[in-house]
Amino acid sequence: MTVVIIVNFKSYEEGTGRRGFELARICERASLDSGVDVVVCPPLVHLGQYADELSVPVYAQHVDGARVGSYTGHVTPMSVKEGGGQGTLINHSERRMRIADIERAVAECRRVEISTVVCTNSIGVSKACASLAPTYIAIEPPELIGGDVPVTKAKPEVISGAVEAIKSIDKGIEVLCGAGIKTGKDVRKAIELGSSGVLVASGVVKSKDPEKAMMDLVSGVP
Ligand code: G3P
Repeated sequence: MTVVIIVNFKSYEEGTGRRGFELARICERASLDSGVDVVVCPPLVHLGQYADELSVPVYAQHVDGARVGSYTGHVTPMSVKEGGGQGTLINHSERRMRIADIERAVAECRRVEISTVVCTNSIGVSKACASLAPTYIAIEPPELIGGDVPVTKAKPEVISGAVEAIKSIDKGIEVLCGAGIKTGKDVRKAIELGSSGVLVASGVVKSKDPEKAMMDLVSGVP
């Protein structure tokens, strides 16, 4: 199992434009210095530029279920791939999708060969999405997102329960968790509970010292 730390810049001002790129460089340095896999998810319009300039993988924050063709304003998996993206989040809590669209998006990402991180809010939804065979399922209780109490402390049983449920359906899917993750201690706990890494946003993007926050996070990987 390779541990991964995925940093979602969301639509935060600190994660957009020049400031976002500085943040991405901080994530890259933390990865290079520690040897830990770090992925960045910038706002979509920056994906190509970041992918060209960074040595860490860049994922999209969202793709639509649409295939290529007559779909105005959609983000297609193929456009993410052609832009240099190596993967994408799907069904994030702040960008929910219908199950039929999640299925189409995962299938199209598989066809164009990019990784998929399907986000879920519960063990039940995790089980439903496990049958779609994404690369990762990331469990994130929505009420803890953006807060100060990490999911690893507030709901450890949801992480271990999701790991058990997902692995019983498809052992090949790696499980991630997120919501309120801020420290290396949180990352260590997430791994102890059976996950292969974390999704983090405000703990890095909104931090007064993102460099320190990133170095602390990677220090939690054994
Ligand atoms: O995508 C990760 C995210 O939803 C978690 O947000 O701010 O709780 O780290 P945050």
